[in-house]
Amino acid sequence: MGSSANRLINRPILASVHTEAFRHNLNRIRELAPESKIWSVVKAKAYGHTLEAAFKGLESTDGFALLDIADAQWLRDHGWAGRILLLEGLFHPDELETAVKLNCDLVVHSEKQVEWLQSHQNYPGHPLNIFLKLNSGMNRLGFRPEQYREAFHRLHAARYHMHHMTHFANADQVDRLPTVGEQFECFEKAIDGLQAPTSLANSAAILWHRNMLGDWVRPGIMLYGVSPTGSFADIVRSDLQAVMELRSEIIDIQHLKKGEHVGYGGRYEAPEDMRIGVIACGYADGYPRHAKDGTPVWVASAGPDGDDVICPIVGQVSMDMLTIDLRGAPNANIGSLVELWGGEVPVDDVAQMSGTIGYELICALAPRVPVVIK
Ligand SMILES: Cc1ncc(COP(=O)(O)O)c(C=O)c1O
Repeated sequence: MGSSANRLINRPILASVHTEAFRHNLNRIRELAPESKIWSVVKAKAYGHTLEAAFKGLESTDGFALLDIADAQWLRDHGWAGRILLLEGLFHPDELETAVKLNCDLVVHSEKQVEWLQSHQNYPGHPLNIFLKLNSGMNRLGFRPEQYREAFHRLHAARYHMHHMTHFANADQVDRLPTVGEQFECFEKAIDGLQAPTSLANSAAILWHRNMLGDWVRPGIMLYGVSPTGSFADIVRSDLQAVMELRSEIIDIQHLKKGEHVGYGGRYEAPEDMRIGVIACGYADGYPRHAKDGTPVWVASAGPDGDDVICPIVGQVSMDMLTIDLRGAPNANIGSLVELWGGEVPVDDVAQMSGTIGYELICALAPRVPVVIK
């Protein structure tokens, strides 16, 4: 895109996934958690980056953690011989046969799952690695502390290889309950005397609570160079790199007179005569419809001296297009390259201007957007 050599024949929108950035971010996690093994969390098609790209960029991980057994199958079919963790374990007992065949580790968070595993303790390939999940206060999945030890003993007696696991609700916040400290204390108490490896930390805990990492850390969002808190400053401070870059082009330019409006609902009124750039990207591509006026878009070589500039969105994002204020971009033309998010425009900033978090935007990249793995 941008130059005729790279120009797409069809609609000029493209997501690039940078495997070098994956490698960089994984190395950063190794530096931050040198004593721990790493489950690279690649659920939701690697947070929208494609499993293929994640596999290519993260092949030096210790394991992949995901939800869908079909994704585990994909990794095995493509040669991954290392560990795979099914983060929510079995959804149905029929999955056990495949999970064993694929040599997956299983999270166990419910009584039902314990029963399924107990009744299959002589399954060929047994014993499996089990990550028994404690509900230490998040109250989403897992055994309450008073049920945890019994579940552990039952699976241990059935000769499964046991691990302890919990998940933090607020590792990115200081003023929310339960605090990380409370959850950690609950975890320590619940597992007291039950010898087994542990897994606790998500990205926020790896960044800010390194006394609570455990034997296996479970980073997701930081692998993708996006902040757990929504603040891009975290990414800069932590030396992480954006992995996904969403780019498009200006496909038309409108010349508005002072007082004219742009787009559905006429949300933006031109304060003076001005140029508006129309970009081939809308909410059907995964761009947030709630992006406010002022949300940044990077435009290549469009500034007064041919420099790159940031132009603000003006007007409502529509299904296939969005519109930007070109007053600071006198050299912008039809065909100018723009970045919606990536190395130039942090997805965290777009998310903040849209009332959401970077997680949601990257995961929601629409299937119609072509993805190139670099
Ligand atoms: C159980 C579990 N562990 C780890 C992660 C990774 O979290 P993050 O993307 O915040 O690092 C998730 C993601 O939601 C999760 O559900």
